[in-house]
Amino acid sequence: MSPKVTRRRLTILGALSAFAAAIGLRKLWRRGEEELRISEEKRREQRAAAWIGFLFSISILAGIGLLIVYALGGQVQLEGALLGISLGGIGLGLGLWGKYLFGEEIVTEEREPLATEAVAATETADMIAEAEHQVTRRTFLTRLLLGAGGAFLVAMVFPLRSLGPSPGNALLRTSWRKGLRLVDENGVPVKADRLVVDGVITVFPEGHTDAEDSQAVLVKVDPNELQLPPGRQDWAPQGNICYSKICTHAGCPVGLFVQALKQLQCPCHQSAFDVLDGAQVVFGPAPRPLPQLPIEADSEGFLVAQGDFPEPVGPGWWSRPSGEGAGP
Ligand code: FES
Repeated sequence: MSPKVTRRRLTILGALSAFAAAIGLRKLWRRGEEELRISEEKRREQRAAAWIGFLFSISILAGIGLLIVYALGGQVQLEGALLGISLGGIGLGLGLWGKYLFGEEIVTEEREPLATEAVAATETADMIAEAEHQVTRRTFLTRLLLGAGGAFLVAMVFPLRSLGPSPGNALLRTSWRKGLRLVDENGVPVKADRLVVDGVITVFPEGHTDAEDSQAVLVKVDPNELQLPPGRQDWAPQGNICYSKICTHAGCPVGLFVQALKQLQCPCHQSAFDVLDGAQVVFGPAPRPLPQLPIEADSEGFLVAQGDFPEPVGPGWWSRPSGEGAGP
């Protein structure tokens, strides 16, 4: 073989070797990059998992703390702060979970079976091991999340006790009963001739001067001026007429009597009620007349109730009966 042919063959062999070496180096470089990326991703997930666990744990502690503070009598600012921490912990934890621990969508494509290389088999085994690790971590975090949610719900259920017992028919009845005398704030019974015309006094049922829902205003007017609604002709003996003192708008005490207009006025939003006409509303935001207390004079001349107010006193509410009263 001539030296020229030998030199050419050596050149081709060298070029092929250099090409093969370049491919090998490129593979090594890519693999190194991939391993770096995977390890960085793992570190980030571990950090995220630690933060999520911390936030859920804080949320559990805040929920338990809320329960304890409530059981010890409650403190509004502290309860609010604990409630915020409990909810915030759950919210932030879920946010981190969604951002860092949910893998990106994996799209697969059908292809012909290929022989598995040894390297690929090792990588697959690593992936399975990693997946098992993730399942364990996910289970742990899920339990923490359930704990945080449970603590929050329990802390929310207990304050329901603060709603207290049902009011029953307490909103429908007052302390007025048939035969109870009208007394002033000192407990002194009021006689039918105690007031002069245009005189006013606050009265209570005898024995119940502390019953706020039962307070009433007694006004003396000229009986000939009265224009009471039908059925109330015997409710105002000798011109003594008695209305609930609780405004039907927002519950302020209706304590102003305007003599010239024969009106009771509420100082809060200036509602005005016509004393001569069953306390019909003549001005202001009150939605209905002041309930009138049926009264009469007993054998000794004292004013007594014929029964309770014929309808609930005070402001309305969503299921307030219309025109219905507790009755005598
Ligand atoms: Fe009486 Fe508003 S409370 S008018």
